[in-house]
Amino acid sequence: MNDVRSGSGTLDLIMNHRSIRAFADEPVPEADLLRIIRAAQMASTSSNMQAYSVIRVTDRALRAALAEIAGRQQYVADCPEFLVWCADMERLRIAAGFEPAEMPCNAEAYTIAAIDAALAAQNAAIAAESLGYGICYIGAVRNDIAKTAELLGLPERVVPLFGMCIGRPAQEPLLRPRLPVEAVLHENRYDASRYGGAVAAYDGVHAAYLKERSGGRHSAGWSEQMRERLSRPPRRIGRFLRDQGFDLAD
Ligand SMILES: Cc1cc2nc3c(=O)[nH]c(=O)nc-3n(C[C@H](O)[C@H](O)[C@H](O)COP(=O)(O)O)c2cc1C
Repeated sequence: MNDVRSGSGTLDLIMNHRSIRAFADEPVPEADLLRIIRAAQMASTSSNMQAYSVIRVTDRALRAALAEIAGRQQYVADCPEFLVWCADMERLRIAAGFEPAEMPCNAEAYTIAAIDAALAAQNAAIAAESLGYGICYIGAVRNDIAKTAELLGLPERVVPLFGMCIGRPAQEPLLRPRLPVEAVLHENRYDASRYGGAVAAYDGVHAAYLKERSGGRHSAGWSEQMRERLSRPPRRIGRFLRDQGFDLAD
């Protein structure tokens, strides 16, 4: 079931995705950027709330500051286009004519806005890839989420979720294999009993992928990588969300 041979250009495009972290020094024409954003806007959205905003970062100093926040990921500074996707309840507040205190910014509102932003962003990603660009999401703008918000002038009720580099690929990375379908697709009821076998199988595939990608230097299985990843202290954004007006306890 992991093998999608489709003959559909869209499916082929999706199945060929890989994150791009090196870009040609070639601008994205304004017309293409607008097509990408228009495609993002056509994503499904909760009750047509369109509860997200996207900030296009063209200022070089601002780019450098965001790259610094993102743990010095140089492609954040250098890529032709960098977009920051935000959960946004503020435009809705203004449109509805609500006072800040009247605005329902609870966990559900945050979830709606985060989903809307992610769906729009992924539409943008597919649109960009369909035009021959490569993309890379940048969650590391949340390393210092308050600073990112300050740099971008985000008001209350707007939360920066992730960045996105866009540009012509200057590399062709290996496709990163995913878990077997059986590991993510359940029927009727959640079934964890299949994880042992599926994860073990994926560990083998992942180790081989990593070995090839690193020229033999690395060969960790997925579960080992995840153990390491989950052992690191997580980012803490709870206080920032509260300060931005979201009450996640509600
Ligand atoms: C929300 C989100 C945040 C991400 N943040 C980063 C990041 O800060 N830096 C980076 O190099 N890649 C980042 N990625 C890319 C993932 O590492 C990548 O999608 C994943 O390893 C799968 O690889 P692939 O996209 O090449 O298939 C992010 C992806 C997502 C969806």
